[in-house]
Amino acid sequence: MVVATEPRLYLDGCATTPPSAGVCAAMAAAQETLWGNPSSRHQDGYQACLALERAREQVAQLVDVPPDWVVFTSGGTEANQLAIHGLLGAAGGSAICSGVEHAAVVNPLRQRQRERETTLTLLWPKEDGCLTSCRLLEHLDGGPVDLVSVIAAQSEIGSLQPLASLGAICKGRGIPFHSDGVQLCGKAPLKPRQCGVDLLTISAHKFCGPKGIGALIRNPQLRLEPLQLGGGQEAGLRAGTPAVPLAVGFGVAAQEAERALEQPEPLWQRWTRQLREQLWSLPGIRPTGHLDGRLPGHISCLVGTPGGEPLDGSRLVQGLDGYGYAVSSGSACRSGSAQPSPVLLATGVEPGWARSGLRLCLGPWLCQGDTAAVESRLRQLPQVLHQLCCHHAP
Ligand SMILES: Cc1ncc(COP(=O)(O)O)c(C=O)c1O
Repeated sequence: MVVATEPRLYLDGCATTPPSAGVCAAMAAAQETLWGNPSSRHQDGYQACLALERAREQVAQLVDVPPDWVVFTSGGTEANQLAIHGLLGAAGGSAICSGVEHAAVVNPLRQRQRERETTLTLLWPKEDGCLTSCRLLEHLDGGPVDLVSVIAAQSEIGSLQPLASLGAICKGRGIPFHSDGVQLCGKAPLKPRQCGVDLLTISAHKFCGPKGIGALIRNPQLRLEPLQLGGGQEAGLRAGTPAVPLAVGFGVAAQEAERALEQPEPLWQRWTRQLREQLWSLPGIRPTGHLDGRLPGHISCLVGTPGGEPLDGSRLVQGLDGYGYAVSSGSACRSGSAQPSPVLLATGVEPGWARSGLRLCLGPWLCQGDTAAVESRLRQLPQVLHQLCCHHAP
């Protein structure tokens, strides 16, 4: 098989995305000029404070909330901890989350279960990875619930959750509703107030912003305890001098994402649909997640030999890397783990297949150079994957 290996294609946008040119330029300028402490009462501090508040407005606008709903954090992981520990506090409490949460939600909840007697109930999804309202309702009659947390879009299998109907149920019963929107934010409209979400986690580096900054979007009517004590920054919820250049980059990424969402379907989404159909119809490949209700740009499947034997997804990742395609076998936080994927197991995948996940995530960065060359490399990908599946031993 003769296949070009250039240009390399970065198809792992669920792990992280390259910062856009606009984000890099704004951050470089901020790094040089906005070094003041935004809490200082002089011109240098004032300029930094203005930039921080402008970034807060840009992020708020992307998710359609007032700026005082935005609490900057170091990323999605910290925002999830602030939502969970901040809301449940020092006492035990009772929480419900889906069985397909990211580790940054399920691990703090499990830790609370072990150490603080928090009662934790997992809601199991259907085979397509989605929850139903009925499943949530079944669990709400067993006693008081202090928090429901449901991921907006699952990173390994791409399925979207019915946030609006789950949020309406929580709102009707006065239960705080948290959603980890890290994967969905910036890729599709996500408006917490419209879906009854009181606490929403987002992260800049998943939509072409910088790494090291995210936000908890919170309804200020909910009382939260800070995770760390110190100065009164971020409305007393996140002590520490704010990282202004990162916030500036986050704000620009939010503004760019908002503008892109107003445009007709971009090329990279059309490429995703074509590639998804081609990959899903290869012999030995089984689609995962919901077939239609998916994260934009996301393709996921289980890889097997044409004869139907499961293959190790991480070996296929290495094989594809050799051909110039950067993809992943699941959540970046779990890569290197020899354990079967808990998300695949939760959706009923047989244990023998739960190490054979493959995930691709396309995005706007692919459309910035020679799109004809990118398109041609994407057309070769199904053939390359098929050959690798034929030649890898199960
Ligand atoms: C669904 C989800 N939540 C949380 C995180 C963690 O976000 P961060 O890397 O900004 O801490 C990730 C990162 O992959 C994620 O996919």
